[in-house]
Amino acid sequence: MCGIFGYTGHKEAQKLVIQGLKRLEYRGYDSSGLAVQDGFQALLVEKTSGKIKNLEALLHRRPLKGRTAIGHTRWATHGVPSRENAHPHLDNGGEIAVVHNGIIENHFDLKETLKAEGAVFRSETDTEVIVHLLAKYYKGNLENALRRSLKDLKGTYAIAAICSKEPGKLVGARRDSPLVVGLGKKENFLASDVSAIVEHTDRVMFLENGEMAVVTKDSARVVDGAGRPVGRKAVKVDWDITQAKKGGYPHFMLKEIFEQPGILTAVLRERLHGAKIRFDELKIAPRAFRKVKRIVIIACGTAYHAGLTAKYVLEELTDIPVWVDTSSEFRYRNPKLGKGTLVIAVSQSGETADTLAGLREAKAKGALTLSVCNVLGSSLSREAQGVLYTHAGPEIAVASTKAYTAQLAVLYLLAFYLAGLFNSLPQKKRKELLREFSRVPFLMQKTLDQYREDEKEWAEKARDFNARYHAQLEKYFSTDPEKRKRSPNGFFLYLGRNINYPNALEGALKLKEISYIPAEGYPAGEMKHGPIALIDENPWVICLAPQSRTYDKMISNIQEIKARGGIVIPIVSEGDSEIHKLQPFYLIRVPKVRELFSPFLTVLPLQLIAYCVAREFGEDIDQPRNLAKSVTVE
Ligand code: AGP
Repeated sequence: MCGIFGYTGHKEAQKLVIQGLKRLEYRGYDSSGLAVQDGFQALLVEKTSGKIKNLEALLHRRPLKGRTAIGHTRWATHGVPSRENAHPHLDNGGEIAVVHNGIIENHFDLKETLKAEGAVFRSETDTEVIVHLLAKYYKGNLENALRRSLKDLKGTYAIAAICSKEPGKLVGARRDSPLVVGLGKKENFLASDVSAIVEHTDRVMFLENGEMAVVTKDSARVVDGAGRPVGRKAVKVDWDITQAKKGGYPHFMLKEIFEQPGILTAVLRERLHGAKIRFDELKIAPRAFRKVKRIVIIACGTAYHAGLTAKYVLEELTDIPVWVDTSSEFRYRNPKLGKGTLVIAVSQSGETADTLAGLREAKAKGALTLSVCNVLGSSLSREAQGVLYTHAGPEIAVASTKAYTAQLAVLYLLAFYLAGLFNSLPQKKRKELLREFSRVPFLMQKTLDQYREDEKEWAEKARDFNARYHAQLEKYFSTDPEKRKRSPNGFFLYLGRNINYPNALEGALKLKEISYIPAEGYPAGEMKHGPIALIDENPWVICLAPQSRTYDKMISNIQEIKARGGIVIPIVSEGDSEIHKLQPFYLIRVPKVRELFSPFLTVLPLQLIAYCVAREFGEDIDQPRNLAKSVTVE
């Protein structure tokens, strides 16, 4: 939540900060701002509500000149999105500016004390206490003032600050929110993550909790809470900036959907050597894995669905029992963990607050911990005993697509790896399955190519849904009792079974996130226990029915829905012999593949359905309302 970008160097800062904030916009986008040191001992500030383009337009009319600056893109926690609540915040004298990502939990108490001491508060944010604390403790050195201020703060933060009296200097600090220093030539950067920096430099230093950074154009120091240098080495990141640009696609989401076959190919090429699986960065020795008696997977949202799918795979290929929990539930239960338990935390960002808290809980209880993350150097990847990177590249669209496939890829490989360690899979079978796995990227590409061919039909269906949906709403809200319907049920239902059940949840989540249309994911077998009551001629029911051991059961489910007038859109395997005979409203075919690997294929139409519907409804696909890419608050 919230993105921070700081620059000091030989170039005009404004343009770079705006560029950096745009890369971080996925972290929040309800307001933004920047503060620039103008070289004449003053700070110039501009901020506004809405997306970064609003700020950019303001700055276009009134540019702020200067070569050191901090900027912020916000996802509101305390105080509505408005100019006043947008960061940076200034002290009374307008000499110190602060941007912050996180939550200051004791801000009420601090505010009272600071107000009594003369601080004038202009916003409703928790952040503003930080800048008044800095002013209180400032004795000619911003670094010392920040170090002292941190002692008073409770909560989470990544902070960047500048002071008009110390030209060319940025100071930063982190606790539980990410902060990265980028090392350039005669210029340095501070940012919430590497995606904002990679177009300027590939050398970065990640801050650990409790550390601070002091950055000028010629130097960057990382120090501990007592001000001692920690000797942090710079690491090279291999993210390519072209990956973070749209590359001709109208939306990042569509681009990321289409990247999936390539990502799976790359993951398999890197990790699969014949029948051998290589996890170079893993850090957990095979002997530690051999002691594992149970696996608990924790994650949120889409990553949780990847975890659910992994349960089916792990239980199919190994004899290890697996539980999956949403991190926010796991962390507040009293999970029974301890020795013999492997806790796997799955996360694209590696910064999700609940997953991080769950991982810490698991570590404290003595479990072996492993993170499956996309963002290099993220908190989860550093705090877990082992890490597996998904290498999906920067995922910019808030709705996760390629990160999901990459998570599945790594989790499947982990299942094969454990099957190898525990000898739970005969060699011949293992080889056969891995051979088929290697073909999956090709089949994914085929699925996407088919979509390209059918794109017009898809758009028509989305238009049709839109028309029916609005007709439904009109009936529901009509003042004419004759016309009024009892309940509005123009919505989507996603049904799946077995290993495709998690994808049903994922399909519904995708649609909800970007089109705001009610959608439910359900295990098809549960329909008769309640949800079938929802069926009349209105809901659109997406049935995941590829070739599988539960195919016949799905046919029965489809018949039950059809018998009640429901609009059925089955996703079937090529060569499907039965379902097309039921004359569904629209039939989507994916290539034939072994059931185990079918989630890689069935998820593609689900992502595309969400995309097409949201596009038809004219929604902001890459930046849906109320959401942020990484949820670093509880
Ligand atoms: C997915 O489309 C969502 N935006 C969201 O559910 C996301 O998967 C969740 O917040 C977890 O994020 P993470 O993978 O970065 O931990």
